[in-house]
Amino acid sequence: MNILHICADPSPTEESASKQLAVTFFRTLAEKNPDVNITNVDLYENPPPYLDYQAIRGFWFPVFIEGHQPTDDEQLAGTYGMEQGEKFNESDVVVLTIPMWNYSAPAILKAWMDQVLSPSVTYEMDQRGTRPLHKVRKLIMLVASGETFAEGDPRDALTPMVLNSFADAGIHHVSIAWADGQYAFKHNDAEKRLAVALDAAEEAAEEVIDELSGA
Ligand SMILES: Cc1cc2nc3c(=O)[nH]c(=O)nc-3n(C[C@H](O)[C@H](O)[C@H](O)COP(=O)(O)O)c2cc1C
Repeated sequence: MNILHICADPSPTEESASKQLAVTFFRTLAEKNPDVNITNVDLYENPPPYLDYQAIRGFWFPVFIEGHQPTDDEQLAGTYGMEQGEKFNESDVVVLTIPMWNYSAPAILKAWMDQVLSPSVTYEMDQRGTRPLHKVRKLIMLVASGETFAEGDPRDALTPMVLNSFADAGIHHVSIAWADGQYAFKHNDAEKRLAVALDAAEEAAEEVIDELSGA
């Protein structure tokens, strides 16, 4: 089984609740199935460029304009997306480690999504709809936030942004482990909330093994 881990958190692990969820998730996976291949992408070590006009032309104009062939410049502008797309397309599971920033994801993750969740990178798109170019069967979100959130909280712009964008690419099967209430100065149960989320990360790893073993 191939797992792509995209980490969008610049903090050291001991200071990052979401990275601690990732440690637990991957430790549980390794204990249950040592045959898992993990590709780690630390976005702060390998940052995506913002999508520019040449990249938009290269990725999207073949959808919008019949017969558009990307030029050399357009292809060059899409290099990061194509390289990351290759890793994505070979994966069975994608794991996103995400601190909540301004009620959504850090801009660096959004920039990665703008590159990778593009037509002709991870899916084909035309009048008949979209067809995946990938074999991803499951998305795992490992999230931390300062505030507490109930499910469906209208302040949460992170979950809908990620779920809708991955659904457009044909990925609908999602598990979320979320350490909310991590503002310890405000929430005196921050540690307890982290412990509950760590259990959820462990369960998510067990689910992956149960659902996808043999991949
Ligand atoms: C730039 C920035 C913006 C933040 N915005 C929010 C926010 O909108 N809502 C929230 O609940 N917490 C917010 N926080 C708090 C973080 O989500 C919280 O510290 C969380 O634990 C970060 O994840 P980490 O521990 O994995 O680094 C923000 C933190 C930073 C640095």
